[in-house]
Amino acid sequence: MENARLARYEQALQFAERQVAAETERDPDYFPIYTTGGKWRHEGELWTDWTGGFFAGMMWQFHRRTKDPVWRQRAEHYSKLLEHRKLDRNVHDLGFIFLNTYLPWFQLTHDPALNEVLITAGRTLAGRFVESGQYLRSFVSVDSLFIDIMMNVPIIFYAAKQTGDQQLWQIAVAHCRTTRDRLVRPDGSTAHEGLFHVETGEFLRESTHQGRSADSAWARGLAWSLYGFSKVYALSEMEEFLSVSERNAAYWISHLPEDRVPYWDFHADLSEPLPWGPQKESSAAAIAASGLLDLAQQTKVPEKAALYRRTALEMLDALCDPEYLAIDTPGWEGILKHGVYHTKKGLGVDESVMWGEYFFVEALTKVVVDGK
Ligand code: GLY
Repeated sequence: MENARLARYEQALQFAERQVAAETERDPDYFPIYTTGGKWRHEGELWTDWTGGFFAGMMWQFHRRTKDPVWRQRAEHYSKLLEHRKLDRNVHDLGFIFLNTYLPWFQLTHDPALNEVLITAGRTLAGRFVESGQYLRSFVSVDSLFIDIMMNVPIIFYAAKQTGDQQLWQIAVAHCRTTRDRLVRPDGSTAHEGLFHVETGEFLRESTHQGRSADSAWARGLAWSLYGFSKVYALSEMEEFLSVSERNAAYWISHLPEDRVPYWDFHADLSEPLPWGPQKESSAAAIAASGLLDLAQQTKVPEKAALYRRTALEMLDALCDPEYLAIDTPGWEGILKHGVYHTKKGLGVDESVMWGEYFFVEALTKVVVDGK
């Protein structure tokens, strides 16, 4: 790794630390989701409450790199504020909330009480399993499967491994297979949502909430799939899931625009006006970069490993440019500009979004600390 690149990544991480520290001082104990005009606190709708683990998770990442006890203290404090969510049956996001907080905390301390939180959250998420269709239902309704859940199902694999509970394992494997067979297309692109007949479990059709159309390729959904299947492979060692992540990666890499940051949907019509047209989606780039860094270590093919890593670093380089990094944008409270939450609802469009912040920090930390 060249020193100039490492220095740039370290500078971006230090900027991220300043932005997160400032937010904790400005608005103690608040978990921001997306900015409006660059400001975290606003009256905008949440849609669903799923992002607390990203804010606290960045604090764990900062502590991992700096060993600064202040970051650890903040990380523990904000993580504790999330503990009650382990029994939350209203969201499908318990992996996002706990794997970025209680897992690093447990790995540092080996305190069994922290592991119990992770196991309980895994069991709670498994309670969303729909027997007829063999999937974990999304937060919107019982007939709905989201691609996003691929990033959360790892907490069920984790709980199954920790407890030896075979039923948890079977639920997690079934969910991944249904997602692979119904949402991941032969070309490696993904649908955001699948709809099922609740009684018979029959798959009815593709659908979307945040993508351009049912049959388009919402950029963040594809990133969730790429990284989610890679995480599942890491936990399960089942090759069938590695090959799904690699199929996602092939689509991702061959459809990236020249500056390496995707538009919000790979089927976006760039001649249309914003927000439908050429709107960039920095958070999808950050998620995919972090996933590709892992996938580069997992693939059995050396040429693919080199391609995944090179693409991840190119995306991170682009995100470290002040066009995306808010380092030269006075008054902007986020770290990364040009993310999108929900285009149709007009939430967080061309703004900072908390998951983009987290995965950017996570990916840079993998490079700087682990030399990935
Ligand atoms: N998981 C919700 C989203 O990606 O916006």
